[in-house]
Amino acid sequence: MIPKVNPTKTNSWKKLIDHFDEIGQTHLVELFKNDQSRGEYLTFEFEEFFFDLSKNHLSKETISLFKDLYNDLELEKGKRAMKTGEPINETEKRAVLHTALRNLSGDPILVQGKDVMPDVLRALDKIKSFTKRLHNRELIGYSGKPINTIVNIGIGGSDLGPYMVCSALKPHWITGFQTHFVSNVDASQLLQILEQVNPETTLFIIASKTFTTQETMTNASTARDWFLEYAKDPDYIKNHFVAVSTNSDKVSEFGIDPNNMFEFWDWVGGRYSLWSSIGLSIACSVGYQKFEELLKGAEAMDHHFFNAPFEENIPTLLAFIGVWYNNFFGCETHAVLPYDHLLSHFSSYLQQADMESNGKHTDRNRESVKYQTGPIVWGEPGTNGQHAFYQLIHKGTKLIPCDFIAAGKPAHDKQDHHDKLIANFIAQPEALMWGKKETQVVDELRADNVSDEDINSVLPYKTFAGNKPTNTILMKELSPKNLGTLIALYEHKIFIQGLIWNIYSFDQWGVELGKQLAGTVLKEIKEGKAQKNKHDASTANLINKYLSFTKG
Ligand code: F6P
Repeated sequence: MIPKVNPTKTNSWKKLIDHFDEIGQTHLVELFKNDQSRGEYLTFEFEEFFFDLSKNHLSKETISLFKDLYNDLELEKGKRAMKTGEPINETEKRAVLHTALRNLSGDPILVQGKDVMPDVLRALDKIKSFTKRLHNRELIGYSGKPINTIVNIGIGGSDLGPYMVCSALKPHWITGFQTHFVSNVDASQLLQILEQVNPETTLFIIASKTFTTQETMTNASTARDWFLEYAKDPDYIKNHFVAVSTNSDKVSEFGIDPNNMFEFWDWVGGRYSLWSSIGLSIACSVGYQKFEELLKGAEAMDHHFFNAPFEENIPTLLAFIGVWYNNFFGCETHAVLPYDHLLSHFSSYLQQADMESNGKHTDRNRESVKYQTGPIVWGEPGTNGQHAFYQLIHKGTKLIPCDFIAAGKPAHDKQDHHDKLIANFIAQPEALMWGKKETQVVDELRADNVSDEDINSVLPYKTFAGNKPTNTILMKELSPKNLGTLIALYEHKIFIQGLIWNIYSFDQWGVELGKQLAGTVLKEIKEGKAQKNKHDASTANLINKYLSFTKG
C-alpha cells in the first residue's frame, strides 16, 4: 500500500525549506553563470522529445534533495502499487489502471486476482472491427446511406480527452468523415451541431462511464428525439446510436442494444479514460491504427516512468518542480502554453486531469492539509496568449511557472509561419528568464534619440526583472504516438504530485455537492417556486427571479 506521510514532516522537506532560502534568491541567469553543466543534467532526450528543464530555480543540490524527499515518502512503493493494480483509489475502493489500457504487450495485470488484459484486448478488438466497418462504409443508416459523421455526446472525461485528441490529430482524420463533440447541457451547443449534420448518415456515440450524468443523458435524449423525427421507427436507433459505458443496465434502459455498447471498467477514472473505449470517437476519426499509435506513445512513457532512475525520470522531475513552485515559492497557478494551434484544447483537458485529481484538501489520513495542494492550471496556445496575458507573466506581481510545448515539424507546408511560431516559442522562455536591464533600455532609447527626460519617465515600465521559470518541451512532430507520450507524461506528473501531497488523486467527491443542489433547484424550477426554508435568501431570490424572467 501507499505510505500516508505528511510531506512537510519529513527531514528532506525541512532541508528543502533551508535550500529555498538560499537558491530562491538567486536569479536564474546567475544559476546559468555559476553552473555551466546545467544544460546537461537538466535537459533530456526521450524518443522524439527534447525536454529543457534548465530554466528553473534548481541546482544539483535541489535535485538531490528532491530525491531525498522521494525516498522519505517512499514514492517508489506508490508507483508499484499503481502498476500492480492495488486499490489505490481508496475512497472508492478501486484500482487505478489506465496504464493497463495501453499495455499492448498484453502482459498480465491483476485486479483482485483477475487478469484484466483479456478484457482490455477484447475491447480494443471491438473498436478495431467497428471502425473498420465504419471506414469501409459498411455501417449503414436508416435510409441505406453509409454513416460518415460521428457525434460524441459526453462530458468531463467522456469528452475533454477525446475532444482534445481529435482536435490535435485533425490532420490525420480519415477523409470523408467528420466528428463533432457535444458536452454542455446548454442546448445551444447540441442544436448548432444538429444543424450541421444529416440524420441519415450520423452516428451518435453516447459516452458516459456511469450513464447517469445529467448533461449527457439530457443531450442524448434530445438527440434521440431529433433523430426519430426523421427516421420515425425506433428500430433504427441501433444503426445510429452506440454507447460507451460501464453501466449496461442503463444503456439498455436508454434503448441502445447491448451489442452496441463498448465497455470499460471501474478501474478506469473518467479523466484517464481516453485510452479506453471512451477513445472510440478518436479511432473513428483517425482510424484504429493511429489510435493504437497513440496508445503506444503512452506505453513508452509508462515504461520510462516505471523504470527510469529518479534523476532521469521526466514526469517525476516535472512533478517535483511543480511542488517546488507550489509549496516553496508560493505559486498559485501553472500555465501550459502549447505553441501549436492543434493543441488548443490541451490546457482545458489538463485542467480536468490535474485539478479534478489534485484539487483536494483532505489527506490520506482524513486530516485537512496545512500546505498547498494542486495548482490552478490554465493556458492558451501561443502566440495568441502573448497578445493577451503574457504582460502579467512578464511584469505582473505573481510568479507563474510555465510549460512551453511545441512540435518541430508542422502539420502544414507553410514553413515561414512555423519558423515565426517557433521563434516566439524559443524567445519567450528566454525573455522570461533574462528580462531586460535598465542599461539595455537606456541604450536602446538613446539609439532612437529619445531625450534623457523621456527615458527617465518610462524606464521602470520598460525594464523586465526576468527570473521567471519555464519548462520547454519540444517534440519532433505532433504525431499520434508523440501525443500519447505527452498526455501520459502529464498523467504521471499528476500522480506523483498527489503522492507527494499525500492526497487521493483518483476520486472526485468535490463535484457532488453542486450536482445534488442543482437537483433540488431544478425540482423547484419545475414546480415554479423556490422553497424559502430550503435556501438562503439570495438563492431563493435567484430561483424566483429566473422564474419571473422565463414566465415574463
Ligand atoms: O462530474 C465529474 C465527473 O464525474 C467526471 O469525473 C467525469 O469524467 C464526468 O463527470 C463524466 O462522467 P460520466 O462519464 O459518468 O458521464
